[in-house]
Amino acid sequence: MAGVEGRVVVVTGAGGGVGRAHALLFAEEGARVVVNDLGADRDGTGRSSEMAESVVAEIRDAGGEAVANADNVAEPEGGQRIVDAAVEAFGRIDVVVNNAGILRDVTFHKMTDEQWDAIQKVHLYGTYHVTRAAWPRFREQAYGRVIVTTSTSGLFGNFGQSNYGAAKMGLVGLINTLALEGAKYNVSANAVAPVAATRMTEDIFSEEMLERLDPRWVSPAVVHLASEDCTDTGIAVVAGGGNYSRVAVMQAPGANFDAIPTVDALAASWDQVTDLTGATVGRNPPD
Ligand code: NAI
Repeated sequence: MAGVEGRVVVVTGAGGGVGRAHALLFAEEGARVVVNDLGADRDGTGRSSEMAESVVAEIRDAGGEAVANADNVAEPEGGQRIVDAAVEAFGRIDVVVNNAGILRDVTFHKMTDEQWDAIQKVHLYGTYHVTRAAWPRFREQAYGRVIVTTSTSGLFGNFGQSNYGAAKMGLVGLINTLALEGAKYNVSANAVAPVAATRMTEDIFSEEMLERLDPRWVSPAVVHLASEDCTDTGIAVVAGGGNYSRVAVMQAPGANFDAIPTVDALAASWDQVTDLTGATVGRNPPD
């Protein structure tokens, strides 16, 4: 078993794309699912409860348990209502999968405040709102699983996505600390970076790549990280198209000085500062 049987799982933005695949797999593995989706267009405009309801219908038709919710993760009350929907329907909440997302691609030079803010509101604030609403329950019941959806655009950068990349890397910063604060309450926090053919990526990936990138490839990584059996916390995993691989922030051995170096002295050692040979996963404070 996948370790989520009977657990109550919220998946945001689960009316289509990757989130829908997550919701279907959680239900198939015996979890009870809140399918949240605002029913927005790719850029976040528009609204309809139909997307969430149709995924709930699919789950129920297959014999699973699910309820629909059409609240907006970008609003604090929306985050609270999504968590309340889980508690009202199923009496508890065990897992939050923060997946809802939008795009406003534009080069930094041309970006408007609205394009910057809209992305932070859905990805970073949206994850904050839903996770913040669930957190006290996770602590009280000494069990919880937080999954955030990051992106290689944040982890590695992507032309035209400075707003999105900043939000997605911000989410990695969030789980780094949630992992520390949640540890003694048996609450884990991890990140998944999907690589999948959805409406979000239909004009980004080549035709050949899109064929190999069914969103269902991503979901086993999310369900595993949400499982009772998974003790990992504070990690990020890229998942899609058959590859599952951890990405981590590494620290090089670097160069050490006993006295404050001159700029010239530091510059002379710069190759050693930046050489990643022997790098290890970074820790705070360092070992
Ligand atoms: P998608 O556009 O198919 O799905 C996103 C869903 O979120 C939509 O159904 C939309 O209605 C919903 N949504 C948007 N704003 C919302 C809000 N304020 N409240 C509630 N729901 C809202 O896109 P896709 O590809 O399935 O993306 C899912 C997540 O994966 C996103 O966070 C995205 O940034 C991330 N991602 C996807 C990648 C890919 O290769 N498809 C790559 C890296 C990250």
